[in-house]
Amino acid sequence: MSDLMFRDLMQRNKELWDKWTPLHVESDFYSHQDFIDGKQTLHQTELDLVGNVEGKSLMHLQCHFGQDTLSWARLGAQVTGVDISPEAIKVAKKAASILNLDAQFVCCNVLDAVEYVEGDFDIVFSSYGTIIWLPNLKPWASMIAQKLKKGGKFVIVEFHPLWSMFDEDMTKFEVPYFNSGAPQSFEVKEGSYASPTGEVNLEEHVWSHTLSDIYSALQRAGLTIESFKEYPYSHYNLYKNGYEAASDQFMIKDLEHWIPLMYSFVAQKTS
Ligand SMILES: C[S@@+](CC[C@H](N)C(=O)[O-])C[C@H]1O[C@@H](n2cnc3c(N)ncnc32)[C@H](O)[C@@H]1O
Repeated sequence: MSDLMFRDLMQRNKELWDKWTPLHVESDFYSHQDFIDGKQTLHQTELDLVGNVEGKSLMHLQCHFGQDTLSWARLGAQVTGVDISPEAIKVAKKAASILNLDAQFVCCNVLDAVEYVEGDFDIVFSSYGTIIWLPNLKPWASMIAQKLKKGGKFVIVEFHPLWSMFDEDMTKFEVPYFNSGAPQSFEVKEGSYASPTGEVNLEEHVWSHTLSDIYSALQRAGLTIESFKEYPYSHYNLYKNGYEAASDQFMIKDLEHWIPLMYSFVAQKTS
């Protein structure tokens, strides 16, 4: 597939996210009013990996409508959220203004962040449902390396690609582990992962990325991998037979410790 075709599919995903955003703002999943009232949306995993953000500049990739971005701001970071969806960026900017938080939000494809986002950052952060929307990771990793200050670090926490292969019942494979370049395309009639209802009638186009794809892309962009972890739990209960096995740690009944549900990488720009 050509770059032009990839761009077209990402543009079509943008339309999907524009349609999903108002559904998400109203959803129990995102409980936006609780967030406005002070709820912290970051989980212990990313808080531990990122560490103290007080006074540090942080760029949040694919920030959706800014809950995590503004949670970092509440902890003292100077934040810039980046997302392709104008609807999401509009809600994020409104939330920043309601909360009187000093935050920048930029609407662009993350692959174009070098062009659209000013400055460089101590921390670049990405989490939960991001890179599946990108066709290949080479330009993504190169952008991260360019936007980090020397000594800065990149942190990603994501759903594990092995879990993503299965159907909802965890009984058969639905998508391949390896990325052949071709997208996995699905019709979305109504709702989303966060909202059971709401007419949509669009398509989503996503790509698998193996752990070695991610590792190699970051390394080839010149970053030094400092930590790589896999987790037997997830902070989101996205499973048919999921339950909270420990505080904010969800597992799948009868499959505990069988498959990894999340992974994380920390990479540093050393030179
Ligand atoms: C699952 S959400 C973000 C995850 C975040 N942790 C959350 O749940 O709020 C994925 C986001 O990626 C954005 N997105 C998808 N493709 C993108 C691209 N090529 N460039 C920038 N943002 C993109 C969507 O607009 C959406 O807001």
